[in-house]
Amino acid sequence: MNDIQTEDFYDPGIIKKRPVSIVKGKGALLWDSEGKKYLDFGASYGTANVGHCNDNVVKAIESQAPELIHVYSNFYNSVRAKLMKKLASLFSEKLNKVYLCNSGAESVEAALKFARAATGKKKIIACMRAFHGRTFGSVSATHNPDYREAFKPLVPEFTHVPFNNIEKLKETINDDTAAFIVEPIQGEAGFILPDENYLKNVQKICREKNILLIVDEIQTGFGRTGKMFGFEHYGIEPDIVCVSKSLGGGYPIGATITTEKITGKVPKKSHSSTFGGNPLGSAAALAAVEFMLEKNLPEQAQKKGEYFLKKLKQINSSKIRQVRGKGLMVAVELKERAGPYISALMEKGILVIPSGKTVIRFLPPLIITEKQIDEAVEKLEKVLK
Ligand SMILES: Cc1ncc(COP(=O)(O)O)c(C=O)c1O
Repeated sequence: MNDIQTEDFYDPGIIKKRPVSIVKGKGALLWDSEGKKYLDFGASYGTANVGHCNDNVVKAIESQAPELIHVYSNFYNSVRAKLMKKLASLFSEKLNKVYLCNSGAESVEAALKFARAATGKKKIIACMRAFHGRTFGSVSATHNPDYREAFKPLVPEFTHVPFNNIEKLKETINDDTAAFIVEPIQGEAGFILPDENYLKNVQKICREKNILLIVDEIQTGFGRTGKMFGFEHYGIEPDIVCVSKSLGGGYPIGATITTEKITGKVPKKSHSSTFGGNPLGSAAALAAVEFMLEKNLPEQAQKKGEYFLKKLKQINSSKIRQVRGKGLMVAVELKERAGPYISALMEKGILVIPSGKTVIRFLPPLIITEKQIDEAVEKLEKVLK
């Protein structure tokens, strides 16, 4: 059996797979087992902001692995301490508590649990079309029924309101509301941008009603949108921020960043994770964050994103309904099903990701070059013809 047959035999078959085996990556490039090269404009749903097998991340893993791969966080560790300090330095002074875990969903779980524990209230409001993960808490905040129905009953006291609708949020908040959780730009929904003052108004209401504002930066974080975090575009200061994906430069790690006022109310011993903050992941993440800062990846994403959007808008095709995005979080919405075009792009060596039935999402590594962007745009234009 080859790789594909072996995986098909043993895999539970729950997610849809693409029919190639990827064996190698460098920068914005991936190679399959047949030696075919791809430009990766999907980057595993925005996980490769610093590029595949980033030299600094590889070196950090190579030097940390022989020292110590894992020790539970009931012991102190110098690499973990450095990562916590570095992560906190990316936020305002108040956001100085860093809970480390292993994935996006875990970082959302912690945020939801901290919000309930800190406020003593139960209700969580999330947005329609939101995606926050697939564990029981995070999937209860997620909206798409495809991810929810089979697993009901989910965690109680979760409600959804339309994104960009401040009135519905106001109406839905009651005395038992602990928090509102929101992606600054809705990712899974196909890169839906917030209206100009939406997030500012959200923050205002949260403050007035004394409920916590949780911002999910798992897809938008670490430079993706042209700022280090997506919320920075909108002049707000969340109470809790969830990050993961690109944080580890490809190594699985997540973090929930919040205030002492909140963590101070979370009961001792009530939450933790065996592998959260392990030294190997901490070393990888520290190298990835240092690379982002050193190379000013947010500014790179801003400039290249403008270039990419401009090029996409120049494509002359009646099949395109809209081109939208921020930084290097770019979507092309078609007037017809996107699936065949996504497959055709893959044939031509460009990997992109779908959203819903009609949207093509582009989430390239932020180190992508203009030449590589040109190649993707040219190939998209070709397949649309
Ligand atoms: C906005 C957002 N939140 C949460 C998650 C869940 O992250 P993970 O798959 O690491 O659990 C994702 C993953 O795509 C995401 O995009």
